[in-house]
Amino acid sequence: MAKRTVVTMPGDGIGKTVLPAAIRVLDAVGFDAEYVHADIGWDFWCKEGNPLPQRTLDLLQEHKISLFGAITSKPKTEALEELAPELHDKGYVYFSPIVGLRQHFGLDICARPCKSFVGNPLNFIRKGPKDTIEEPEVDVVVFRQNTEGLYGGVEWTNPSEQVHAAMMTHPQFAKNFGWCPKEELAISTRIFTKKYSERIIRAAFEYAQKFGYERVTLCEKPNVLRETSGMMLAICREVEKEYKHIWFDYSNIDAQMMWLTKDPEKYGVIIAGNMFGDIVSDGFAGLIGGLGFACSANVGEEVAIFEPTHGSAPKYEDLNPSIVNPIAMILSACMMLDHIGETEKAQQIRTAVATVVEEGKVRAYDMLKLRGCQEVIEQGAATTDQMADAIIAAL
Ligand code: NAI
Ligand code: MG
Repeated sequence: MAKRTVVTMPGDGIGKTVLPAAIRVLDAVGFDAEYVHADIGWDFWCKEGNPLPQRTLDLLQEHKISLFGAITSKPKTEALEELAPELHDKGYVYFSPIVGLRQHFGLDICARPCKSFVGNPLNFIRKGPKDTIEEPEVDVVVFRQNTEGLYGGVEWTNPSEQVHAAMMTHPQFAKNFGWCPKEELAISTRIFTKKYSERIIRAAFEYAQKFGYERVTLCEKPNVLRETSGMMLAICREVEKEYKHIWFDYSNIDAQMMWLTKDPEKYGVIIAGNMFGDIVSDGFAGLIGGLGFACSANVGEEVAIFEPTHGSAPKYEDLNPSIVNPIAMILSACMMLDHIGETEKAQQIRTAVATVVEEGKVRAYDMLKLRGCQEVIEQGAATTDQMADAIIAAL
């Protein structure tokens, strides 16, 4: 088989330490690939006025598969202050490059597995009957629509006359918001299309079928968001008919956050729109170890990008050696292997991670519940590289 080319985008902060650690694990499992570096993140905003340069888009278009670390985003005023002086007043506006990537390549399907590892001290526990302690085994995969809804970017502060006039044609707007001067209005829209709603729903059912999950739950709010969540539910009802052995149900996002700690072990595949998917996936991730364990895939019709859900953790970026947990990035690399059909290698890595976590001899600071700082190493925490070494040794 021809050697794979994988575009690597370490980005900012700890993205620069967890990504190389994951590549060492990929090498160790015998994944034969060529890695092509691509620029992304804060430095490129500051130097070029663009955190997502065209050359990076070109590399992704050419090679289709990418591992991404994390980027740093800062508020509007700070972004402008840090922009190179010669680029000021040239109309540069900062935008999140990861949101930009999702939209540019139509990476509409986001999968976020949240599976607890036996022996992880960060696993969620709860009280059972007669004060017993229960540690539910969580195995959930959240399918989040990644390009539409509240994060679709269609929003206004002080909307134009035309937009305002259009809004006024809606009786609810006229009645409840018509009193407000245009200049004092901020509007963010929640747009869902049938095509992309159906794509995320089908991807979720397919996944459930392929990997043997018995239950698929739509997590939205159809009782209030009657149009958008309502459309998702209607499509689910149709698609459900094609998957007769899968139990489909739906929950409201608010109630779901409560059920999260009551019976997380009862869920399998979850489907949600962009924002609710963002929320519910962080919720489930919190039950299985948090940001050091939360991996994700952003998949479009052509391009796929795999990334940990954590950010650049700027407070740790200067620590040398790095102390952050590379497992989220390593599990994201496993999702890449699955995507390109190297499922055996992915499984080997996951088994090695499970072994290291269960043995408990090598643990990153988060797993020891320490406050992150350089001293954690003296307190017995593994460095990022030691964690990767342990996983490699367990392969
Ligand atoms: P963050 O995820 O970078 O860090 C929050 C905290 O989580 C850290 O301080 C650390 O205690 C912990 N943490 C994160 N990754 C960890 C790891 N691998 N191992 C152990 N502990 C870990 O989120 P924060 O602080 O809200 O944002 C920092 C920067 O990252 C911001 O500029 C933000 O915009 C950006 N960001 C980027 C994302 C991306 O690239 N996809 C996602 C989230 C935030
Ligand atoms: Mg998030």
